[in-house]
Amino acid sequence: MTVSSGGASSFGASRLGPVHVGLLGIGTVGAGTFNVLSRNQHEITRRAGRGIEIAAVADLDTARARSLIGEGATDAVRVTDDAFSVVRDPTIDVVVELIGGYGIALKLVLEAIAHGKHVVTANKALLAVHGNEIFAAAREKGVMVAFEAAVAGGIPIIKALREGLTANRIDWIAGIINGTTNFILSEMRDKGSSFEAVLKEAQQLGYAEADPTFDIEGIDAAHKVTIMSAIAFGIPVQFERAHVEGISSLQATDIRYAEQLGYRIKLLGITRRREHGIELRVHPTLIPARRLIANVEGAMNAVWVKGDAVGHTMYYGKGAGAEPTASAVIADLVDVTRTLTVDPGNRVPHLAFQPDAMADLPILPISEVESAYYLRLRVADEPGVLADITRILADAQISIDAVLQREPGEGEHQTDIILLTHVTVEKQCDQAIARIEALSTVVSKATRIRLEDLN
Ligand code: HSE
Repeated sequence: MTVSSGGASSFGASRLGPVHVGLLGIGTVGAGTFNVLSRNQHEITRRAGRGIEIAAVADLDTARARSLIGEGATDAVRVTDDAFSVVRDPTIDVVVELIGGYGIALKLVLEAIAHGKHVVTANKALLAVHGNEIFAAAREKGVMVAFEAAVAGGIPIIKALREGLTANRIDWIAGIINGTTNFILSEMRDKGSSFEAVLKEAQQLGYAEADPTFDIEGIDAAHKVTIMSAIAFGIPVQFERAHVEGISSLQATDIRYAEQLGYRIKLLGITRRREHGIELRVHPTLIPARRLIANVEGAMNAVWVKGDAVGHTMYYGKGAGAEPTASAVIADLVDVTRTLTVDPGNRVPHLAFQPDAMADLPILPISEVESAYYLRLRVADEPGVLADITRILADAQISIDAVLQREPGEGEHQTDIILLTHVTVEKQCDQAIARIEALSTVVSKATRIRLEDLN
């Protein structure tokens, strides 16, 4: 099997020789990229106008790399464990970085750029944390850095935000952009199981990593929403300013109560334009069960974008996996191939906006975020408790949307009160919660989950 789609061809544009790609890392996505490029080479060449050929693969496990490439192709593809030799190779036009993380991957990407290579990467962590430095280096050298695969796997959300929606002033984006946590939340809701039980099951099934921290603590989603925020609003990537909460302390009880009130709980990445800044946050969120995005189940991803001209748009698909992610990597390779000869100043800017036209809107601290809230309070079952709580909320100018009180069981002297509030500023909610928790009739810390109507 070879992945060359160049050479003799019936279409005129492919008189140009093939573009030579150096692949760094041939794990799941690398192997998927290799296979899809090979299987669809004719279609891809028809679209790109010339062949796209993987000429070198760097992987620490060269034996595995050779077996994935296939015996027949190892003459055409140089396999090495020295990734730096690939990024410095003068015959390589484009480097595809699929190593991940921001250690060696950062060094390799910067070295590739320094050697005038275009870069395609699926590495959200790298771009969310070091994107500004990488894009500045790429601008200096006049090369492209393409990253469709970094956000929501196979969903072409980067292209949509950067190009398809370019007429719009984007108002907000809300996305289910981590499949692992969406799978866990779906299972918790379906089976009523605890977070810990479902995580264990997800690990056994191979849906969750052995170390699931990045996924379950919201870090992976925060990397992705950071990148979308930069492209949507024309601001630098600012992962360090994102507010990040995962799902590890979410209780099955709250999923149940939310359901009774007509809501689902999803881990959302949210970024919203406000008058004086940008909200950038990841946290479990109640959303009305009737919204399309509330019905995105299992490991699927979905991103909802609200633009002033287009209105509401939603993008749905697989956010991970070998071929869905390869689909995005190859789309970037085709994009790069098509614009290789374009003057760098006339290409689509890395972050959608011209570099000298970036906005300096700050990322708002979480205390300034506006949201509605779900509050669960464990209270003594006594007269006047609800009145005390609602008085505190009224004093804080927080309007109540719904109240649910569980009937205490036989002989039980405590019960749960669940309140849904209208939209307020988070610091107002914090102050009200502190006063509520200080009531002698409120017997434990409040559970607070943000609620977004998405309307
Ligand atoms: N681990 C991610 C997820 C996929 O569960 O969606 C890669 O970002």
